[in-house]
Amino acid sequence: MKKNIVLTGDRPTGPLHLGHYVGSLLNRLHLQEKYQQFVMLADVQALTDNFDNPEKIRQNIFEVTCDYLAVGIDPSKTTIFIQSYIPQIAELTIFYLNLVTENRLKRNPTLKSEILQKGYGDNLTMGFLIYPISQVADITFLRANLVPVGEDQLPMIEQTNEIVRAFNRTYQTDVLIEAEAIISPVPRLPGTDGKNKMGKSLGNAIFLSDTADEIVKKVRSMYTDPDHLKISDPGKIEGNTVFSYLDVFDPDKAEVERLKEHYQRGGLGDVVLKRRLTDVLDTILKPIRDRRKEFYSNKDYVYKILEEGTRHTEDLARERMKMIRKAMKINYFDNY
Ligand code: TRP
Repeated sequence: MKKNIVLTGDRPTGPLHLGHYVGSLLNRLHLQEKYQQFVMLADVQALTDNFDNPEKIRQNIFEVTCDYLAVGIDPSKTTIFIQSYIPQIAELTIFYLNLVTENRLKRNPTLKSEILQKGYGDNLTMGFLIYPISQVADITFLRANLVPVGEDQLPMIEQTNEIVRAFNRTYQTDVLIEAEAIISPVPRLPGTDGKNKMGKSLGNAIFLSDTADEIVKKVRSMYTDPDHLKISDPGKIEGNTVFSYLDVFDPDKAEVERLKEHYQRGGLGDVVLKRRLTDVLDTILKPIRDRRKEFYSNKDYVYKILEEGTRHTEDLARERMKMIRKAMKINYFDNY
């Protein structure tokens, strides 16, 4: 019944925040009910720009897995695995590299903007340059046909399907299948500063692991309307982060509309609004925080989940790799 195979991944470079929650985690809860879902901790990819800091990746593999389990990603429905333990991904990457030119790689818009943003200049490593091809291997090694990603990852899916077609054409096979992106229907959540999307390195994130006090503080410092100085002044809704969040998280949409009207008319203070948002967020985050704490203190259990998921995935990968070797006619032994 569960024919479609879903694969997603996260670079384990920091604990997950509300942006991940609305952008991908909620979607995964839904997808695990309908499809066979794999979620990958992309440590190899994370190492491409953190190779000198493996401790960070190691710690965040644990943090992110606790986040997954706390929001309700269910290991009996979703296979969680670690990328670096699947050697077939590295193998496939090498074969795929023959099917892409250096120029094509450098034209990948996602990669291009990351290279600029990180200021690599002449110090661009080969590891970073080719990570999109490693991601093609991620997507194809399980025959995943559905890949839920953010808009910024669309060029990766395009790159994947180019390689799939080149591979199948070159080796006269249909062993690889093209993938389809599933784009999250939720608009990107701004950070608490209202300027950027939420991100750990920008210091504007609310984490799933934040305490109630931290949430109070972060909401209190949230960007609203800088011209709304007196309560009686009319206030602006557009670009007002508190309203952006209420739109996403407050279940009482009618009340949010009333508050918007009141705010625009004047007479509604930021403090009242922020208190409401704090309550709304805490209602969502408290059960997650409590469950997370439990998993966090059960390290053995969390690693057992990871180990089982990884073993299961590697079993599948080994089988898939046999088919791929055969398609490439590099299966030199009968029973190997
Ligand atoms: N590049 C993705 C990100 O930064 C993470 C990722 C790695 C991924 N491999 C993947 C996502 C395969 C989807 C499918 O978010």
